[in-house]
Amino acid sequence: MGRKPLIAGNWKMNGLKADGLALAKGVAAKLKGEPGLACELLVCPPFTLIAAVADAVAGSGVAVGGQDCHAKVSGAHTGDTSPAMLVDAGCSYVILGHSERRTDHGETDALVKAKAIAAHAASLKAIVCIGETLVQRDAGQTIAVNQTQLRGSWPEGGAAENTVIAYEPVWAIGTGRVATPEQAQEVHAAIRAELGQIIGAAEAAKVRILYGGSMKPDNAAQLIALPDVDGGLIGGAALKVEDFWAIAKSCG
Ligand code: 13P
Repeated sequence: MGRKPLIAGNWKMNGLKADGLALAKGVAAKLKGEPGLACELLVCPPFTLIAAVADAVAGSGVAVGGQDCHAKVSGAHTGDTSPAMLVDAGCSYVILGHSERRTDHGETDALVKAKAIAAHAASLKAIVCIGETLVQRDAGQTIAVNQTQLRGSWPEGGAAENTVIAYEPVWAIGTGRVATPEQAQEVHAAIRAELGQIIGAAEAAKVRILYGGSMKPDNAAQLIALPDVDGGLIGGAALKVEDFWAIAKSCG
């Protein structure tokens, strides 16, 4: 399908300047030593570190992303960050609709979609996150929940070149409980099939679908090797250069 895997580190609300710069420089140095790496690398620091991290990795091939943005271009939105501000600080990606944003900030599918459209307008690539809770999985609603979130969050104008999907089962985030390869492949294939209904099968076949949720060096290879898994969105293991790099290397 020609989908180059994307290994994305979501640093969440972790790190002060010294930690973030050391981590970013460490990742950039690893990539410098291996320019033929089989995957694309992305780091998504907290807002306060984006500009410094972008400077630190400039020219290295490591991309930088935000963890959220506002749906509006500018205005009276205290505490928020516009897509253009992320670009200005050095971002080429933005994570949207992470389950922690959906839970902590009440973000809905419609809001995530609006943010993705705004991100595209500023030339940012959107990583749209979806995923079921444990209660939903136990109730047999996994596929339906992910289909509904995808339909509600996928932006008009979304395509392989500007949008990535991250399937993050909520029960696997930060818990050490990772989806089995069978569970991951089942949902990823269902997401791609549903996406095919929205944008056509040929385009859906080009869209990268990342797995997220307790991805670590010891489980990454078998997940990334699955037919419909095109990389990972990594939390805890992205905070250590060696772990993040080991996951990147497991792309082959
Ligand atoms: P963990 O890798 O810490 O489970 O976090 C996953 C995640 O939420 C990435 O966005």
